[in-house]
Amino acid sequence: MDHIRFAVSTGQGRETMFDDVRLVHQALPSLGVEDISLHIRTGDLKLESPVFINAMTGGGGTETTKLNGLLARAAKETGLAMAVGSQMAALKDPAERTTYEIVRKENPDGFIMGNLGSEASVSQAQQAVEMIGANALQIHLNVIQELTMPEGDRDFKGALERIAAIAESLHVPVVVKETGFGISREAAEKLANTGIAAIDVGGFGGTNFASIENERRARKLSYFQDWGVPTAVSIIEVKEVFRKTVLASGGIQHAQDAIKAFVLGADAVGLAGAFLKQALEGGEKGLIEEIGLLQEDMRMMMTALGAAEPARLRSCPAILSGGLSHYLTMRGYN
Ligand code: FNR
Repeated sequence: MDHIRFAVSTGQGRETMFDDVRLVHQALPSLGVEDISLHIRTGDLKLESPVFINAMTGGGGTETTKLNGLLARAAKETGLAMAVGSQMAALKDPAERTTYEIVRKENPDGFIMGNLGSEASVSQAQQAVEMIGANALQIHLNVIQELTMPEGDRDFKGALERIAAIAESLHVPVVVKETGFGISREAAEKLANTGIAAIDVGGFGGTNFASIENERRARKLSYFQDWGVPTAVSIIEVKEVFRKTVLASGGIQHAQDAIKAFVLGADAVGLAGAFLKQALEGGEKGLIEEIGLLQEDMRMMMTALGAAEPARLRSCPAILSGGLSHYLTMRGYN
């Protein structure tokens, strides 16, 4: 509940560098709004919704169970895929399972991703998938959050090997995600040598777990608050070296951010903080309405860009400027 409260109070940043991406208008798009399909195909991951509700509620309690139920019903109503928060709590204490099980109960046929940290073993990963009949398993990387938490982990050895072992032995695809500090090209290169199906860049610029954890401690590690690979950069870097599905998340706040993520090469986009805010402020009805508007706005912009489906967006030109252009130049792109 601390995470939920501080995620809302610290709010979403605007440091993804999507504002340095300018789309190029097409005066002759040669299609109409009714020609737009939001359907996607993503190889082994088999995700079909271009937008998904990203992992948010780890840990039990009636409040988080209620929130997960709400998110699951909204996902069902709108056809969005959804990830649950870290299931480690329920693996340690079976009483916590209801928080996650409700998601499958409310949405029996939906695309649901399980979630664990990179400390998980193969057996824990299998149990997490079974718990909710998961269609895929997210494994999150959250070094900065752990370092900022006084009680957090201090040893990050062996994560890549555990991820590779999990990807080998699970019968569902594995997605590796960051939690708001992004995946660099170097990290993506390491992941490309494992059998995972997708990377979710979880870039910097939206929900900031250094700010959230700093709210919970006396001596603030403020140097981590502007750490991280901005989401727009992370999509480009990961795309270069990881040939499978690339999901974009971290600070996606509205349809234009989503469209820009697709133009930069993403296969689908995930929102956590923005949907959480909407769910807490507008309830289930408000969230469903908001998702409907997001989809409508995506259709409008895709029409103006002449892209009949999300996969076509990556052929649309874009102008990169300011900090984004500079960052990419310094990283060897021209
Ligand atoms: C998260 N996030 C998260 N991620 C994860 O893999 N496991 C988890 O248990 C959680 N828990 C969690 C709780 C709350 C309250 C929030 C807001 C977020 C991280 C989330 O999935 C996402 O990667 C980041 O929040 C960045 O995306 P946004 O929020 O900027 O869209």
